[in-house]
Amino acid sequence: MRNILVTGGIGYIGSHTTIELLEKDYNVVILDNLSNSDIRIKDRIEILSGKKIKFYEGDILDNSILNKIFEGENIDTVIHFAAYKSVGDSVKMPLEYYNNNINGTVNLLRAMKRYDVKNIIFSSSATVYGEAKVMPVSEKTPLMTPTNPYGKTKSMMEEILTDVYKSDNSWNVVLLRYFNPVGAHKSGLIGEMPNGIPNNLMPYISKVAAGELEYISVFGDDYKTIDGTGVRDYIHVVDLASGHVKALNKIEEKCGLKIYNLGTGNGYSVLQVIKAFEKAANKKINYKIVERRSGDIGTCYADPKLAKEELGWEAKYEIDKMCEDFWRWQCTGLKSLIEDEVLV
Ligand code: NAD
Ligand code: WQD
Repeated sequence: MRNILVTGGIGYIGSHTTIELLEKDYNVVILDNLSNSDIRIKDRIEILSGKKIKFYEGDILDNSILNKIFEGENIDTVIHFAAYKSVGDSVKMPLEYYNNNINGTVNLLRAMKRYDVKNIIFSSSATVYGEAKVMPVSEKTPLMTPTNPYGKTKSMMEEILTDVYKSDNSWNVVLLRYFNPVGAHKSGLIGEMPNGIPNNLMPYISKVAAGELEYISVFGDDYKTIDGTGVRDYIHVVDLASGHVKALNKIEEKCGLKIYNLGTGNGYSVLQVIKAFEKAANKKINYKIVERRSGDIGTCYADPKLAKEELGWEAKYEIDKMCEDFWRWQCTGLKSLIEDEVLV
């Protein structure tokens, strides 16, 4: 099984995963509508890997392009990243989120069924655990309904994929629940490109370090954590990417339905992340403690044992490396895209 369709492959996690796949000699076909990504990332993936990728600019909601890909590319497996992912936007535009994420996934699955392609790896999220009572969260931790439409789309898509598997056990479905992906490729050429002012912690800190924003608001210091600020399981995006290659190996064994947490098992507080970033960027990062952000939870970190046992995968990179790589991307790759400089 060597021909992989990567939906959303020009995006943050998709681009890093594509590089890992190319390194392992998979043939990659990307389908991306560029709604949250930049086509210049495709050139950078090719430069970093020294290989060509087949790219289709188009939408998972568009049957004509899906038919064309499945008819022409001999796809064995789909890695499905394409989705909208902003929690805040999903509250403001629930219909757009349900349409893109749910209808898009159903449309993709129907196309896969038409062409008898029954292997899929799906980008899920720790958000499906909601505010879990016991840490760390394992795959057996009871799920809770997320508080926002984005999170709900992830829970619903997990259910849809589970029902598809139940209806036909010849499918192989791997649901990967990501914790908090951060960092960037070590080259600094590819990384996360948030639209406008970032919502997530590390991209925001990075902009403060770059002098683009004055300070970071720390959302609450009265959680029951080491210093009162929120604790999360930050995972280097390259570790996350390598988890997808391991999941592909599992699919090759005809695994049926499998669910894995992809996290490090370690939690870091907001203040600890700020400190690690200060060290990486060698800059002081100003912050202010403000009210809790609505919908936030205090602590969330993974029990990653199952992925280690069954996939032979574990995260390698620590928080310092996540910050160093993010900062290199901020100062080189991202800067050159914004300023339209030719870097490579
Ligand atoms: P991203 O926005 O960088 O990448 C998503 C890509 O999908 C983009 O290139 C976008 O243009 C494309 N896309 C969106 N809708 C599409 C459509 N209808 N048709 C074709 N292409 C479409 O996001 P990311 O951070 O790389 O996330 C990838 C996946 O992982 C998403 O499903 C996301 O929900 C999930 N996830 C992300 C995080 C995170 O914090 N980044 C955490 C957990 C889960
Ligand atoms: C991390 C910590 C904040 C920004 C979200 C989604 C989740 C997901 C990943 C997709 C928290 C604190 C943040 C800021 C702060 N992905 N913070 N000031 O909330 O864990 O997860 O992104 O599936 O679904 O909910 O990530 O990076 O927003 O926050 O103090 O300006 O940083 O309160 O403790 P979160 P985050």
